[in-house]
This record gives sequence, C-alpha cells and structure tokens, in this order.
Amino acid sequence: MIKSQRTETIVRQRYAIGAKERADKLCCPVEYDSEYLKVIPPEVIERDYGCGDPSRYLREAETVLDLGSGSGKVCLIAAQIVGPKGRVIGVDMTDEMLEVARRNAPIVAQRIGYANVEFRKGRIQDLALDLELLEQRLRAQPIANAASFLAADELAEELRFKHPLVASDSIDVVISNCVLNLVEAKSKGLLFEEIFRVLKKGGRAVICDIVSDEEVPEEMQNDPELWSGCISGALTEDGFLGAFENAGFYGIQILKRAIQPWRTVQGIEFRSVTTQAFKGKQGECFERNQAVIYRGPFREVLDDDNHRMERGKRYAVCDKTYNLYKKAPYREFFELIEPIVDAPLAEAKPFDCSRTALRHPKETKGQNYDVSTKGNNQCCDGGNCC
Ligand SMILES: C[S@@+](CC[C@H](N)C(=O)[O-])C[C@H]1O[C@@H](n2cnc3c(N)ncnc32)[C@H](O)[C@@H]1O
Repeated sequence: MIKSQRTETIVRQRYAIGAKERADKLCCPVEYDSEYLKVIPPEVIERDYGCGDPSRYLREAETVLDLGSGSGKVCLIAAQIVGPKGRVIGVDMTDEMLEVARRNAPIVAQRIGYANVEFRKGRIQDLALDLELLEQRLRAQPIANAASFLAADELAEELRFKHPLVASDSIDVVISNCVLNLVEAKSKGLLFEEIFRVLKKGGRAVICDIVSDEEVPEEMQNDPELWSGCISGALTEDGFLGAFENAGFYGIQILKRAIQPWRTVQGIEFRSVTTQAFKGKQGECFERNQAVIYRGPFREVLDDDNHRMERGKRYAVCDKTYNLYKKAPYREFFELIEPIVDAPLAEAKPFDCSRTALRHPKETKGQNYDVSTKGNNQCCDGGNCC
C-alpha cells in the first residue's frame, strides 16, 4: 500500500492540473439535464470529472452538501433544483478547483437571479476542519519546530470544535460525484462517519462513485496513475453498501448501476453506481400498539434493525420503526395499522426492538372490541359486492 499522504498529494496534484485544462482520462462521460447547463460557463462544464448525476435526486428547498465539488458543476445544477429557498455547499481540498468554482458561481447567480452556492476548503474525511481558517491562523503562528507542530495540531482540534467547516446535523442531502474512491483506505471509515455526522435526522446521502466487482489487488492499489484515475481506491459493490451500513445508515439502496464497466483492468470491472442511504433509525423505542404488514413481493424481508418479516403477517413495531416505514424508501412496501385507541407517546412504555413479534389484531383493535357491521357500500365500485 502506498503511504496515505502520498496518495492524497498525488490526487491533489492531478486535480490541480485537471482544474486548468480538461483531462480526458479522469472522466467517465455523464449526461446532465441540458436545461440546467445553459447558465453554466463552458469552463466549468468542460472540467467534468464525475461518473453519475446525483443532482437528479434533489428536491426544492433542500440544503445540499457536495463532497469533492471540483469545478462546481453539480453544485451549480443543484442550485437551480433547490431554488432560492435551498442552499448548496461544495467542499474540495484542491485550491485550483476551488478557484474555478468560486470565480464562476457569481456568473451563474447573476443568470438565475439568486446566490445560494458557496465553496469551502476541506478534506471530506474531516468535514469539521476548515482548512482556510487553519491556514489563516498558521500564518500568524507558522510551524518551525516540533513544539509549533504540536501546537498546530491542537489549533486544528480547537477549530474543529469551535468553528466546524460543516456543522453536525445541518444538511438535508449529502451528494458526491466520483470522489469517495479517492480517499485512502485507512480514512474510508471516517469518511462515512463524517457523512453521517453532518446529515440531519431524516436526511439522506446520494452518492455516485466507481466500484469494482472484485477486490482491488495490492499492486493495483500502489499504482499512483490508477489511484488518481478513480480505480485503485474503489470499494467493491457490496463493500460500498456495507460502508453505509457500518456508519449507521438505513434503507440503503442502489438507485442506478451502469451495465457497461467504465474501465476493466486485469479482468476487474470498474463501473459507476449511484447509491442512496438514510440517517435516522437511532433513538429510543416506544410501544404505541401499532402494527405493520409487509406487502411483498418477496416471501420475507430483513430491515437494518434486524426485523425479519414474512409477507402478509401482522407484526408489532415500535413507534420509531412505524414512522420510518411511513416514509421513503419503505412506504410502498408496508401496510400501516394504527390502533383504534391512540396510545399517546408521552405515556408510552419502552418497546423491545431486539426481537420481532407478531401482533394479534385484538392488540390494535383493543381487547374489548366487539363491533358488528353490515357490508360497507364503499368497498366495491357498484356498491353490491359480497
Ligand atoms: C474525480 S474529481 C470529481 C469532481 C466533481 N465531483 C465532478 O463531478 O466533476 C475529484 C475531486 O475531488 C477532490 N478530492 C479528492 N479527494 C478529496 C478529499 N479527500 N477531500 C476533498 N476533496 C477531494 C479533488 O480535488 C477533485 O476536485
């Protein structure tokens, strides 16, 4: 394995060149919505080093964070989708990329009539550290010896805490286009933890990246050309989804997977995938007598909290799980059954979420439920059914 710092330096140097002139080897052709490209200067569009289009999954008024924003193209598309009520923040570590993005953002703002995009300097595996603020403070106390090196380390820690580049729980959607693979292996876990940290509860990540169909062998990982070309640092297809799972996400889903590989190296296929993952399954579990039925089509499902449910059966769930199932990406798969008598949250007892139990219909209806009715006229089109 090449030393991590060398990897990062090589990536920065390569993309500094890529910011000045288009480098064809660094990109995997992507079709963006041409409507949004009309207001973006050609210089930005040409320096496209993405492998997918996360912007198409954004909605109006959202706060978006783009990891490794490069020349700013996806941020400038996102700005138009989220509109004046939304906000877009791009983070990149390469000065030359930030320069292109920052110079062109006001041009787009003038054309669309509002300014809702900004670009910040940072490393995406350390989204708390504002590198420009650190540089500014280091000019006043330069590193000259071991003592000042250690003091700089302390300063960085203080800045992370007092002036984070991206605050915790502040973002609706984290997006990224072909960047996560460029982060060295030892920092990949931190990277996914940082994505989780900055998202609001209920927020989501939509990430386009290059993944491999087999583990990347060590000699390939040591090739600097392949590293900065989005090959050596690629996670495997299941490793990519597993990294979201390990960081605490739920509802992880492949939204798009290229059929054709972008490149094949020594028989290993590297292709673009777009993945979505949600934050918000953490928290306490309370009993409110709700039940859910998995509609199918599979015979059974297992969710990210290990609830295993067979198709068509009625299960007891806690209030938190019930509310997760009401929303994307689950809502189309479940019938949600409210109790006839509401059990207010303030009076609710703890619910044991470590096991999945069936729920008798009497539990949602109430033990004393003894109603008899005639046929309901609204149940069929003509009103004369059964
Ligand atoms: C392949 S380009 C993608 C750029 C952009 N997302 C696009 O769609 O054109 C990778 C970008 O990520 C930045 N980058 C790579 N590793 C990074 C890291 N660890 N932290 C911040 N930025 C990084 C590079 O400077 C470069 O601008």
